[in-house]
Amino acid sequence: MADGRRSNERMTDESTVILAIETSCDETAASVVMGGIDVLSNVVSSQIDLHAVFGGVVPEIASRAHLELLTPVIDQALREAKIDATRIDAVAATVGPGLIGALLVGVAHAKALAFAWDVPFVGVNHLEAHLYAGLLDDPNLELPVVVLLVSGGHTMLIEMRGPGDYRLLGQTIDDAAGEAFDKVARFLGLGYPGGPAIDRLAREGNPSAIDFPRAMLNDGLDFSFSGLKTSVMNHVRKNPEVSTADVAASFQEAVVDVLVTKTRRAAAAVGAKGVVLGGGVAANSLLRERFAETATVDGRRALLPSRAMCTDNAAMIGAAAWHRLRSDGPTSLDTGAHPNLRIRFGES
Ligand code: KG4
Ligand code: ZN
Repeated sequence: MADGRRSNERMTDESTVILAIETSCDETAASVVMGGIDVLSNVVSSQIDLHAVFGGVVPEIASRAHLELLTPVIDQALREAKIDATRIDAVAATVGPGLIGALLVGVAHAKALAFAWDVPFVGVNHLEAHLYAGLLDDPNLELPVVVLLVSGGHTMLIEMRGPGDYRLLGQTIDDAAGEAFDKVARFLGLGYPGGPAIDRLAREGNPSAIDFPRAMLNDGLDFSFSGLKTSVMNHVRKNPEVSTADVAASFQEAVVDVLVTKTRRAAAAVGAKGVVLGGGVAANSLLRERFAETATVDGRRALLPSRAMCTDNAAMIGAAAWHRLRSDGPTSLDTGAHPNLRIRFGES
């Protein structure tokens, strides 16, 4: 075991080049990352237009689109990185969580390339990869940090003590934050994806117009957003003349209030040096602003990865893969895709 670990460390150093693939949902992405930190290329082809007409991601359409887009996206990632395929030391792909058909396209492709090029395959957990987006921005980030991971499928507060060393502090007991944005936007007729639409419209509304509930605000580190969604619907049904911009702004205010309050509480509880945002909802303007402001007040470093790094991309897969290869070595080619994959959390 000890020998294996040493040889893995030799296999991964600052010159190790990984081709990473991400196809867990509706973005087809490929990236070339050197040494787990140096992003040589980061290509994302969004399928949003294909799904928007249906008001949400259609799994079958996503799988077919990944099949068509993946080869050109990988070619572009290699071209932009200005490297030849022979320079690739490992091929990584998201193995879960995500849509099974979508995941399988990326996993099968990555395994085939790894086999053909005779290099290791590395299976990556998509959620764990979101944690690395912050470290890609600042590799010298002082740990431990508390990461607020807010995406379409997850809302989690995680203490990150080091690569591979995480502790779950809190999570949603019902809807994810992004899911709440998407469902409320759909109800308000704002289209898909809902987060960016609400973010835009909220700028024209009054955030204090409606006092929507902040569920579990003073109660631990877990979240609940399904009551808020229902409350928005009830309010609009009872007040059909209400300004949609005011509803969007007040809803966003309630979500951000809860997310920031709990992050702050979590950071204080574990004595975190900093707080990091991750996941698609981390692209939200108000959340970014409040998150940074509050951290400054508390004397903590706030790390806000660029919007491109917060939403789904393959650079974060390449970063996570480098650490995974270093600690665990290659992933077996027998590995499949795991739609409900979880992060491996340590004890308190
Ligand atoms: O991490 P991500 O790209 O995909 C998942 O792994 O889920 O997150 C997508 C989620 C969607 O729910 C989308 O509405 C939300 O992130 N989102 C936003 C914003 N941009 C994307 N939510 C609020 N404000 C935004 N600006
Ligand atoms: Zn994601």
